[in-house]
Amino acid sequence: MYRVLVTDSLSQQGLDLLKSFKEIEVVYSPGMKPADLKVALKDADGIVIRSGTKLTADVLDGQTRLKVIARAGVGVDNVDLPTATRQGIIVSNTPDGNTISTAEHSIAMMMALCKCIGPASQTMREGKWDRKSFTGAQLAGKTVGVIGLGRIGIAVAKRCRGLEMTVLGYDPFLSEEKAAQLGIELYRDLDAMLVKCDILTVHTPLTEETKGMIGAKRLAALKKGVRIVNCARGGIVDEEALADAIESGHVGGAALDVFTKEPPPEGFRLTKLPQVLSTPHLAASTDEAQEQVALEAADIVANFLTKNE
Ligand code: MLT
Repeated sequence: MYRVLVTDSLSQQGLDLLKSFKEIEVVYSPGMKPADLKVALKDADGIVIRSGTKLTADVLDGQTRLKVIARAGVGVDNVDLPTATRQGIIVSNTPDGNTISTAEHSIAMMMALCKCIGPASQTMREGKWDRKSFTGAQLAGKTVGVIGLGRIGIAVAKRCRGLEMTVLGYDPFLSEEKAAQLGIELYRDLDAMLVKCDILTVHTPLTEETKGMIGAKRLAALKKGVRIVNCARGGIVDEEALADAIESGHVGGAALDVFTKEPPPEGFRLTKLPQVLSTPHLAASTDEAQEQVALEAADIVANFLTKNE
């Protein structure tokens, strides 16, 4: 028998798929502490995680039975890849399942930010009828810059085109032909694109290259009043620099679903600012996306274990 741990909440369809393999024993234990996880992994052949489980070098080091890690979601930044590779453990994500939900969340955040939905709704909750404090911006005719044209970036770009926006894109890999087909004005030089944007939306993974990619210098180079959306990973836009730029009035507002530390620490400045709309890493939290990524992750682990006998 193979033992597969599931240490983050996973949709029932994914669990049922795993359990349907007679060679697999499923141990469903969301929210395990790192020390318990390290012990439990000694008797596990596979593990299915979302973003809550941190498979650090310490947790993975010396795990001789573990063969496969499936991340139900896109980002594998919660897995120490060098250690997994050294141990011969296969790490796989599910790159397709939550693309549309994440793109939709980015668009919803962009629209809500531009239409003051968050603060206006708060005044209504307080019993006020305040029409003077909120003047939004129309999206049609605005220029949006999309940083990173992978699956999610492209899905966002297509939706922005549908909203009659001018779409610029920065990506080192996307071909000129593909960008032209999608109606995206492609930039290989990020700084050349940034100065043109009314709205900036980020869709890259967090890597050594993208960490702090939008820092104080680049924020200062953006148009005054620019709005920034980050539903990718916390830290791609430098949080301290962004808070400073919003407080100074240079950046008009930000919509953030992701944070360097999740949940953000006590007294975190950015989410307290009235110009900031925030959600607790919800972009992929739809029934549809969670079912899809759970099925894909379960399939990866089950097939890897049972077909490599
Ligand atoms: C992802 O990487 O798939 C998303 O950020 C959603 C998640 O972390 O669950």
